Formats: sequence, C-alpha cells, structure tokens
Amino acid sequence: MKEQLASIRTQALAAFEAAQDAAALDALRVQYLGKKGELTAVLKQMGKLSAEERPAMGQLANEVRAALEEAIERTSKQLAEKALEERLKAEALDVTIPGKAQKLGHKHPMYIALDEIKDIFVGMGFTILDGPEVELSYFNFDRLNAEEGHPSRDWSDTFYFDEDSKVMLRSQTSPMQIHAMDTMKPPIRILAPGRVYRKDEVDATHSPMFHQIEGMVIDKGVTMADLKGTLNTVIEQLYGKGTVTRFRPHHFPFTEPSCEMDIQCHKCGGKGCPTCKGEGWIEVLGAGMVHPNVLRMSGIDPEVYSGWAFGMGLERMAMGRFKIADLRLIFENDVRFLEQF
Ligand code: PHE
Repeated sequence: MKEQLASIRTQALAAFEAAQDAAALDALRVQYLGKKGELTAVLKQMGKLSAEERPAMGQLANEVRAALEEAIERTSKQLAEKALEERLKAEALDVTIPGKAQKLGHKHPMYIALDEIKDIFVGMGFTILDGPEVELSYFNFDRLNAEEGHPSRDWSDTFYFDEDSKVMLRSQTSPMQIHAMDTMKPPIRILAPGRVYRKDEVDATHSPMFHQIEGMVIDKGVTMADLKGTLNTVIEQLYGKGTVTRFRPHHFPFTEPSCEMDIQCHKCGGKGCPTCKGEGWIEVLGAGMVHPNVLRMSGIDPEVYSGWAFGMGLERMAMGRFKIADLRLIFENDVRFLEQF
C-alpha cells in the first residue's frame, strides 16, 4: 500500500503539472481525489490493515491527499494567470495605429441657397409651409383656374396615377397657394419650397424632378409694386447689390396680370453666352397678381383683398448663386462637386 500511495503521488503530481487548462485539471482532480478516484480506492482498503499498520498508513495517505490538493490549487492558480495573460494579449489594442477618418458628407449647394432664401423671407414675416408631392389635380389645376383642356393638364406633361387624371405628382408648388388659403386667414404671407415633377428629358437645364419655391402674400391693398419690390430686395440680398432683374409680361391661369422675372446672366453679364443660351438673361421665376377667380374659389373676397404670388426655380437660383453651369451637377451628388461650396 505504501508503494501504491507513493506511485499515485508521483503520477498525479506529474499529471497536474502537465495539465493545459482548468477543465483538464478538474478532470484529473476527479480521477485522483473523486469519490471513485484512485486515492479514494486505496483509502477504502485501510480497513484491511492491522491495527499497528493503520496509523502510519493513515498519516501517509493524509499527506498524499494534502500534497495533491495543494498541487491542484497551485496549478489552478497558474492556469488562471496564464489564461488571463493570453486573453489580454489577444484583446490588446494598439493605440499607436492611426484612426480611420469618418468621411462626412457636405451640405448641398441647393440647400445652402434654399436656407439663405428662407432666412430672407422669414425676416420679412413669411411662414414656411410644407405640402404633398402627390397631389389632387383639383388643387394643382382646378382651384388654380386651369379649366379642363388647359394645355398644362396634358398627359404628355404630367405624371398621373390614374386614368381619370385625378391624382398626380404636383407639376408646380402653386397648389400650396390653395392649401394656404384653405387653412389660413388673411393677411397671409407664405413660402413653400418643394419638389415638383414634369415629363421632361434630362439635359443641362431640364430634369423630370426639380424644386420650386412658392411665395404668396394676401392682404388689403397689395399691388404689383409690392411684388417687384419684394423680389428685387430678395435678389439683391442673394446675389449682391446692383444685381439687374427684368420683368416680362407672361400668362398663367392663376395670376392676372402675370409676368416672368429674369436675372442678368451671372456668367457673361448680359452679353450672351452658352449658360444663358446667348440671351444675356436667365429666367428664374413666374409671378403675378392672384387671379380674382382663385381668391373667390378660396372664399376670399377680391373686392376686399388682393395678393401676389411667385414660383421660383430653386435649381436655377442655386446655379446663379454659385455659378454652376450644368443642372445635372446638382442631382449627381458627387462629393467632389458638393465640397466646393
Ligand atoms: N407655377 C408657375 C410655374 O410653375 C409659376 C408661378 C407661380 C406663376 C405663382 C405665377 C404665380 O411656372
């Protein structure tokens, strides 16, 4: 039995020494010290010993057990330290590696221009309105005095959703005039920017989706002079003092009289160049005095109130403001382009 105990001790200690991890060590603990373990098996034979042999053997057995337990504890500590060390190594951060730069986008020049325009109008007491891009032809045409058969209602110009031409992508921001009159009471001063849609082919000056800014004032005693004065003030604030504008007569179903406003070409200063197609002028908006029929349909008495409205092409305003020659650059969203503003 003495030899048995000695051999268990040597074997066990060597095995503990060789254990690679906590699980292996625990398996060894069970193998030697468990209920069915090797040392336990030897101890169970104690009963067979004579009374003289027993105390010495008992003491030896206890020593072996203490030695094994001590070895297990020591090895277990070492293994835990080793595991921690390995984990720290694996999770180590090299703080000297250069960081990954986060690529930031850039504010779009058209929205820079829009924010400037909004600021100017808000400063004049206008309220900014937002409205639907999917619109009823009732608001886009009927209420704007464009009767059935009016050329602007044609299928070749307008994106309709249904056979009956009742639901459409708005072709102008002018329905916002109606939404304003339906929800507000005069005096009304609104500015309504947003997307509009027309069946146009893409080229340097056209896109099937573009942006307009609708503006409208309804009050007592409002005249065409207020319209011109307001627009000239806005243009000078945007493009600088002395910017030259001109108003040409035009026709819109919902304004009477109607006009278009041009700005002298920013590229050539009026001499004529490719940007202004040789004209020397760039058309930026349509405008006029709100038609009495439109006021009446909106429950506003044209004998008491008058008003003006305009619809500005936002892309064109931005192109003039930042001297951009091709409309397509506005929609491509190439950061190398956007970052220049
Ligand atoms: N809605 C017109 C257009 O798209 C512009 C406009 C707006 C004209 C308001 C007069 C008054 O061309």
